[in-house]
Amino acid sequence: MAGSDGGRLSVSSVDVAPGREAEFLSLWTRFEALLLRKEYGRADIIRDEARPLRFYAVRHWTDAAAAAACHGDLEVQAVTAMVYRLASVTHVVNGAGPREATGRLSGDRRAHVEADRRSGFDRRQKDSPREAGERRKTRERRLGPRRLRDRGEAVDLVAAARRAREHADAAFSHFKVGAALEAADGTVIAGCNIENATYGLTICAERVAIFKALSEGHRAFTRIAIVADTEAPTPPCGACRQILWEFGGNLEIQLANLTEAKGTHRLKDLLPLPFDARLL
Ligand code: THU
Repeated sequence: MAGSDGGRLSVSSVDVAPGREAEFLSLWTRFEALLLRKEYGRADIIRDEARPLRFYAVRHWTDAAAAAACHGDLEVQAVTAMVYRLASVTHVVNGAGPREATGRLSGDRRAHVEADRRSGFDRRQKDSPREAGERRKTRERRLGPRRLRDRGEAVDLVAAARRAREHADAAFSHFKVGAALEAADGTVIAGCNIENATYGLTICAERVAIFKALSEGHRAFTRIAIVADTEAPTPPCGACRQILWEFGGNLEIQLANLTEAKGTHRLKDLLPLPFDARLL
């Protein structure tokens, strides 16, 4: 689909997190203006009338050099980093990269996956195709996180965090924590703290949950619940606040113990003046 006249086209499908549509559209307007002002090309946004919150983002590049310059542009990267915080973006057509190398099937979706442009460095592993013999079986695929909303059930994140806490491995502190993170598509991804003999390599429940989610391909999140067996609420530690902010944005944070809710907060209130990719 890349343009035949030297111009090139990139298309991504964009699933915006619930309640973030206005923010997304205003960021997109900034992105469009940047493309025009810097003569990288132009951009359109197409709403999928059949799926709420699904858009198709189309970029018409002036030429390959303009596309490359746009991807390296820090001002553009700052805007796209913000988009990634409130939407899950899947690159469908990549007309920005070099022409496909021979040996790749043109229908092979791997050929169209763009590097992750958030914050200017490529966080995404280069694709390493599985051998045919290693392909996942259908049954295994069904063992992924449960998408509760698909089945019309109410999502009780606190209950999910309480269940996750049971798996905590806190042999040194004996302080068990559970977390449950909700992705924009309703998937709930749980985590618990895991300690080890060096103490310092301990990882908190919240980071286990978000790293699991990222590793499963989720990129937009709405809420996280955190549960510990304490009378006072257990808020996320500083390291977790940073990671949650960078990958989850201004999440709603529900705190609870084993029997009752202990308050709801917004991450930006727990992490004022954050450092993130916009400052790089
Ligand atoms: N911990 C978490 O998992 N999440 C929090 O929000 C606070 C602390 C863990 C880390 C460590 O395993 C134990 O609790 C004591 O700090």
